[in-house]
Amino acid sequence: MNTLSATPHDEQARAILRGNDRGGYTVPTSGLYPYQWNWDSAFAAWGFATFDTRRAWSEMETLFTGQWSNGMVPHILFHKPDPGYFPGPDVWAGTGPVHSSGISQPPVAASFARRIYDMDPEAGRAAVKALFPKLFAWHKWFMTWRLDQGAACITHPWEAGRDNAPDWDSAMASIDPVGVGDYKRRDTSHVDPAMRPTKYDYDRYIWLVQLGRRLKWDEAALLEQNPFRVADPTMTFILLRAQRDLAYLGRAIGEDTGEIEKDILVLEAGAETLWNPSIKSYDSRNVRSGEWAGCVSNASFLNWYAGIDRPEMAEQYDRISSICRYPVPSYDPASDRFDAKRYWRGPTWGIVNALIGLGLDECGHKDRAAALRLATRDLIAKHGFAEYFDPHTGDAAGGGSFTWTAAIWLAWASPTMGTA
Ligand code: DGY
Repeated sequence: MNTLSATPHDEQARAILRGNDRGGYTVPTSGLYPYQWNWDSAFAAWGFATFDTRRAWSEMETLFTGQWSNGMVPHILFHKPDPGYFPGPDVWAGTGPVHSSGISQPPVAASFARRIYDMDPEAGRAAVKALFPKLFAWHKWFMTWRLDQGAACITHPWEAGRDNAPDWDSAMASIDPVGVGDYKRRDTSHVDPAMRPTKYDYDRYIWLVQLGRRLKWDEAALLEQNPFRVADPTMTFILLRAQRDLAYLGRAIGEDTGEIEKDILVLEAGAETLWNPSIKSYDSRNVRSGEWAGCVSNASFLNWYAGIDRPEMAEQYDRISSICRYPVPSYDPASDRFDAKRYWRGPTWGIVNALIGLGLDECGHKDRAAALRLATRDLIAKHGFAEYFDPHTGDAAGGGSFTWTAAIWLAWASPTMGTA
């Protein structure tokens, strides 16, 4: 599929995927994240598909070995014990077939399954047939347990994947983490604490895990008792897109997709409930208090990825792109809560750029899409395959040799993936 010859960065990216391969699944990076993470794995599959289609499908298959009987696919699968990570399997006490966490993550898997299938439909048909009912059950779980006015909600900041985004500040402030007890963080022994969430955040993350565990991850009980419930553009736009891609796959293998089509209409209406007219952007909504987060984040710009175009979003995008060298920052650099190196409060993430870039391109914003791809290519080529980057200087931040950054290089940012 790659007509142009490989660049040294392609070689490096493939070496990172191979190096992080633990046999059927890929860790995001060794040390900091030593297990299988849900959306990281789906990105890894997309990256593997550029040079090893069988390995791409096996990544997805392993992810679904952890699916719970209620359809949920956990955000972490603890295949093998590793003392270097906290909170591990004993803290979560997930109730599925593989040791796991008790929450999910943005369901990008169906969308990458579609891309991998399209690269080689014949080779992918059996895999899609096996995956389709599992993806369907997972999406149904979101539709059953996670909707508010049709928008998809998260029940823990880790569920959106954007752990310490300012989007959750008000919902986090509503939690009094009494009784959380002593615990030892491991992340700050791998990475500079200035690039990680604070203790204030961690106390609440762990308190929410303890709540879920106490309720045995019973979704009905959590719906009643969990103070943290935020309708979020990451989940909503990604799920909407995933449902469309699942319907495409269903049609390709002759499945009835009527129910998925109905769910798409629900999510389309739900996405519009995330439009915050006072900041002229898609935003997060605290379901418990009804408050807007007031955040223009990189997830706000996933509207195009969900096939939704809005002239105001292009204006926001141009404004933000003009004030940092390496867009798209995870939070508005013009805001006083912006923090250039602290995880999801400012840094640029290649994977979100890839999703925004695909969406921009599909919605006809060809120039913006090409510019974003070039800026991301330049960022990675100069600063390496880091977990995230300072949007002003490009400095690498978080973990290094990162699977999903290598994956989006191979599948989207590399010059060998086409022109521009
Ligand atoms: C972490 O440990 O930082 C992860 O983001 C949780 O999923």
